[in-house]
Amino acid sequence: MQIKIQSLDNIREAARRFTENLGERTVFAFYGKMGAGKTTFIKAVCEELGVEDVITSPTFAIVNEYRSATTDELIYHFDFYRIKKLEEVYDMGYEDYFYSGALCFLEWPELIEEILPGDAVKVTITEQEDGSRIVEFDA
Ligand SMILES: Nc1ncnc2c1ncn2[C@@H]1O[C@H](COP(=O)(O)OP(=O)(O)O)[C@@H](O)[C@H]1O
Ligand SMILES: [Mg+2]
Repeated sequence: MQIKIQSLDNIREAARRFTENLGERTVFAFYGKMGAGKTTFIKAVCEELGVEDVITSPTFAIVNEYRSATTDELIYHFDFYRIKKLEEVYDMGYEDYFYSGALCFLEWPELIEEILPGDAVKVTITEQEDGSRIVEFDA
């Protein structure tokens, strides 16, 4: 399905549509160029899922952990942009996250393609000429 984010004013609405289509799936791999809006959209999705703590992009850590105040469940947000070797991802114990049953949102999954779970949902975000964004994934 495609979700259009017309502007930052509608991002929560777009995020809600996304959360309504998660299904039973837990690992979501976000593809898109630098600046496409991956972090911003993941943040809006987490807020929609009830995360209240200040959400920052995991720029310095590979993974940030959030807790939904609504469901009390953990959500993991990964950013693999800075990894240099897959070994760093093994060392952080990625399997404990990916196969935990908790929601995992991944930025730069291209860099860990070999260890991406087979059932990970590929989500693509593209910036349009007018500045709007299209979020595309299999619903
Ligand atoms: N849906 C959107 N509409 C307008 N601007 C956006 C949108 N999503 C992100 N941005 C802006 O684009 C910039 C990059 O967003 P970011 O989420 O950090 O991108 P990425 O994580 O894909 O590199 C930020 O300044 C952000 O405010
Ligand atoms: Mg980002």
